[in-house]
Amino acid sequence: MSNIGDYKERLAHSDWSEVHEELDYRPEGILNIGWHCSDRICRQGKGDKLALLWENVCGHEKRYTFNELRLASNTIGAHLRKLGIRDEDRVCLFMDRIPELYIGFLGILKIGAVAQPLFSAFGDESLFVRLDNAGTRAILTQRKHVGKVRKILDRLPQLEHIIIVDHDGKKALEDRESVFNLAEAETVDAFDIFPTRAESPSVLHYTSGTTGQPKGVQHVHYSLISQYLTTKWVLDLQENDIYWCTADPGWVTGTSYGIIGPWSLGITQCVLDAGFSAEAWYRFIDKHSISMWYSAPTAIRSLMKAGEEVVKRADLSSLRHLASVGEPLNAEAVIWSERVLGKPFLDTYWQTETGSIMITNLPGMPIKPGSMGKCFPGIQGAVLNAKTFEPITEPGIVGLIGFRPGWPAMMRGYWKNEKVYQEKFRNGWYLPGDRAKLDAEGYFWFVGRDDDVINTGGHLISPFEVESALLEYEAVAESAVVAKPDEVNMEVVKAYVLLKDGYLANQDTELEIMNFIRKKLSPLAMPQEIEFVGSLPKTRSGKIMRRILHAREWGEEIGDTSTLEDDE
Ligand code: WT7
Repeated sequence: MSNIGDYKERLAHSDWSEVHEELDYRPEGILNIGWHCSDRICRQGKGDKLALLWENVCGHEKRYTFNELRLASNTIGAHLRKLGIRDEDRVCLFMDRIPELYIGFLGILKIGAVAQPLFSAFGDESLFVRLDNAGTRAILTQRKHVGKVRKILDRLPQLEHIIIVDHDGKKALEDRESVFNLAEAETVDAFDIFPTRAESPSVLHYTSGTTGQPKGVQHVHYSLISQYLTTKWVLDLQENDIYWCTADPGWVTGTSYGIIGPWSLGITQCVLDAGFSAEAWYRFIDKHSISMWYSAPTAIRSLMKAGEEVVKRADLSSLRHLASVGEPLNAEAVIWSERVLGKPFLDTYWQTETGSIMITNLPGMPIKPGSMGKCFPGIQGAVLNAKTFEPITEPGIVGLIGFRPGWPAMMRGYWKNEKVYQEKFRNGWYLPGDRAKLDAEGYFWFVGRDDDVINTGGHLISPFEVESALLEYEAVAESAVVAKPDEVNMEVVKAYVLLKDGYLANQDTELEIMNFIRKKLSPLAMPQEIEFVGSLPKTRSGKIMRRILHAREWGEEIGDTSTLEDDE
């Protein structure tokens, strides 16, 4: 039996306050995600239950019960407080998926500070713009990543503390650096958790748009209400489940459903701190008897590519329920998983800004492979006419996805960017920036993004950020960055580059430029192909027309370019 029971009855749910009682929350009272994910679970008598089962690429394991999670997050919180970190200060987590990342997240929230998780593969420039924008006061990181922080330290006067969580005492510490080894720190049992309220800031996630620098998406502790209920009803986590979310907490899936959702329900979760390998992934499921698995279409397509022989070498009979997020989940992937893994992946749609699942296939609901499903109970969503911003009632017509604001996990703003935040609303609707159509039964079918942002393997990349970084490479005169089709990642980054006079358009230059971007931004942002051109298509006022290049990559009709040539 699923948690949601009769999904049709649940679709009538619209009042989020029904969840308050389940979470012991009284309006205007104290609400702290850090407490809810550890102390509260211990109070329910589950202190000895396994909270985290961590494994790294060598098969080395670490285990934490909910009580150990409570103590360790108190200990990190107390340490930060001793350093002078206060409520609302931004504290960055810049680590691989090691236990300190998950525990540190709760510790930061427990002192009322704002957790700012950043993907550890980010290069120094990606790191700099996000720490600079957030005015981050402290960063928790690992020895292997500290070099990137050192490189940008001069430009970050507000960054007071660089805390290394795995220092072995071998290399000398530099300016503003200190050591915090969780295993050696004195455990803090009694701890004064900061009395955050529903609207106190909690998490700051950075997301990329078409133009401008990445935007800090500001969430509050009240997001827990949506994250808890969607985890319960969509991911269907139940008392004895062993859950695995493959996302990195540098991205919102890894925090909303890789920390907050499962732990607020007191569920055991596994973390595999290793890259993708079909064999290793199946072995991980088998070894830990994983029953609920939340992953992403690119991973599923990679599994499909790895073939069925490797599936047979593992026992996957523990799997009870599967879900996916991040990019379009093609019908073939749903059909494949049902045939080969015995369960279909249920598609879920949401984004950093929405904080929790918005459109989804609910357990029990008939699945239409290729469709994202319906609005989660309590979410009012529509497909809107792109000019009038009125809902389109006929099925099959493409428009913009829109949601009525007001669900608990909705972002409260873009950090220091009120203007761009306001632009996300039209006619009383929040616009996530995606296009879709509805069918006669109210299922949403994803069509595409409404901007130039590239979604590579479920990660959003801003063409603007890559173009800006390319311009910093000495040989590059001009560039345009677009998505190129890819069998597994759906889209990858492609750069059109015009070189300055005197530079050679050859493979060495291509590789050098790729490497430059990988180091400066991240492996995800690195162009998979660079095409050297003699000129780039531009509007009369000199703006590069990415749309023409995009259409070329996708073999689409370019359409009427006369309008494109005028700046809109
Ligand atoms: C964008 C959000 C929240 C999860 C991680 C991504 C695309 C997300 C789906 C889906 C088609 C999807 C949208 C969305 N997207 N889920 N099920 N089908 N597209 O969070 O980095 O904020 O990206 O990812 O374009 O706006 P994000």
